[in-house]
Amino acid sequence: MLSREQRIAPLLSGRIDAEKLQQLLGTALHADDVDEWFLCGPFELVQLCRDTLSERGVKPENVRFELFTSGKPDRPEGQAGRPVLVDESKETYKITFKLDGLQGEVASPTHARESILNAALRVRPDVPFACAGGVCGTCRAKVVNGTVTMDENYALEQDELDKGYVLTCQSHPTSKDVTVDFDV
Ligand code: FES
Repeated sequence: MLSREQRIAPLLSGRIDAEKLQQLLGTALHADDVDEWFLCGPFELVQLCRDTLSERGVKPENVRFELFTSGKPDRPEGQAGRPVLVDESKETYKITFKLDGLQGEVASPTHARESILNAALRVRPDVPFACAGGVCGTCRAKVVNGTVTMDENYALEQDELDKGYVLTCQSHPTSKDVTVDFDV
């Protein structure tokens, strides 16, 4: 681990923190001279770097990153595989989705607050996903009817959001009927 390696220069020893980052950007690295940034590390560190670069005027589209973990596995209702019992007499969202040319439909109890991905997986186990943490973008789909709210997004760019794409592993319906398309 490089963060445990002792270097001669204290600035290059140990973990990068806010102070070290400011020093690095003030000396060795000049944000204006860099075309593109590639960040890789744990959530907090990557977030710190993104925020700091943004404060220094770096455009978000010039910062690419990969997280070791999403750092947010804290909502049990968002986990895949949790059994959800659907009682049609109670209030439900109706989720319709298109995948590989086939239309699927599933009722999701409003109180379950399950993600669109988890609801869809109950009726179609082949719905694509990988990280389930808003990082990889595998579960991307386009909202074509209704509205959703998204928890975390580390994968979609602003232009995709503007076109209506969402990460279904992070999206929860906010309208009674929601339709998403995985094929577009
Ligand atoms: S499965 Fe990775 S972002 Fe949704």
